[in-house]
Amino acid sequence: MHILVTGGAGYIGSHVVKQLIEETDHHVSILDNLSTGHERTIKTLGAIATQMGKEAPTFYQEDLKNFAAIEALFQSVRFDAIIHFAASIVVPESVENPLKYYMNNTVNTTHLINVAKHHGVRHFIFSSTAAVYGEPDTPQVSETTPTEPINPYGRSKLMSERVLIDTSAAHEDFTHVILRYFNVAGADVACRIGQSFPNATHLIKVSAQTALGRREKMMIFGEDFDTPDGTGVRDYIHVDDLASAHLRALEYLAEGNRSNIFNVGYGKGFSVKEVIETMRGVSGVDFRADIAPRRAGDPAMLISDNTKIRSTLTWKPIYDDLKLICESALAWERQVDGL
Ligand code: UD1
Repeated sequence: MHILVTGGAGYIGSHVVKQLIEETDHHVSILDNLSTGHERTIKTLGAIATQMGKEAPTFYQEDLKNFAAIEALFQSVRFDAIIHFAASIVVPESVENPLKYYMNNTVNTTHLINVAKHHGVRHFIFSSTAAVYGEPDTPQVSETTPTEPINPYGRSKLMSERVLIDTSAAHEDFTHVILRYFNVAGADVACRIGQSFPNATHLIKVSAQTALGRREKMMIFGEDFDTPDGTGVRDYIHVDDLASAHLRALEYLAEGNRSNIFNVGYGKGFSVKEVIETMRGVSGVDFRADIAPRRAGDPAMLISDNTKIRSTLTWKPIYDDLKLICESALAWERQVDGL
């Protein structure tokens, strides 16, 4: 098959491209505007392919908002499936600039689905987020937990989910998988690719940067949640396990199965304090972490119920170990020096 990966120069997208190269014979094309993705990632992925005697991914530097260019691409190249990552993902920014999120996430995704459908693309895998659940009543959420996002980021993703669901319902030959990610972290264990995002806000990346002395200290946002140690609890998943869920989803659709939605997480929660202690342990640095007020919109606890993905797809996570996740994040951080 010919697979188009939008956002393939970014954090999660690049890990999926790496696995597609290493584990399949599909031809891979990457479409990325390089706004947060990196050209060096494209080069690294090309080098991984060459080393394995495979064809390097084709790279299209383009922005999904350029509708005419996207239409022209689909007129000239035939894709069998799309794995769609390209999106804006920063929750506080989505509150300040909602239209950026509705345009870049919802409008551009809707256009991509429309072009894909028009040009006979059969399968669509969509990056969604646990943010669609908002602040659920239950700590562990399943795919049937009501979706009530509390920020424009989550709403922009949920709207795209609806567009996909309605499109597949009306067109039998167009099937999709929606993957709702929990808290992705860590990097390729061989340290070839990882997360490079300026002013990162993610807990594990921030704690790795603090351990390396790139930040003087970090903050623990809230110690008064209704959780065992009072700090927020999340389900942290290694990026390569999240990536492999996309390969299994692609196989599932290629086998002719129906459209579906899956949570992707380990089904286990760790508190902010537990993550910081683990990072202190793996780095050997007793770095400073001060208690600060809660961050707006942070739920106390968000853990996946992953029964459905485990029973429906042949997905087998192999990095389900917070220490390993922290070690790989730290190793990558050492290497990227500042980004
Ligand atoms: C949220 C989104 C996720 C998005 C991500 C990046 C939800 C449910 N999820 O994840 O989809 O990709 O933001 O914008 O909205 N923390 C600290 N100190 C820090 C950083 C974080 O204490 O310096 C705490 C947070 O308060 C939270 C936990 O660590 O309890 C995880 O935070 P983070 O890594 O930012 O991810 P989420 O906010 O859970």
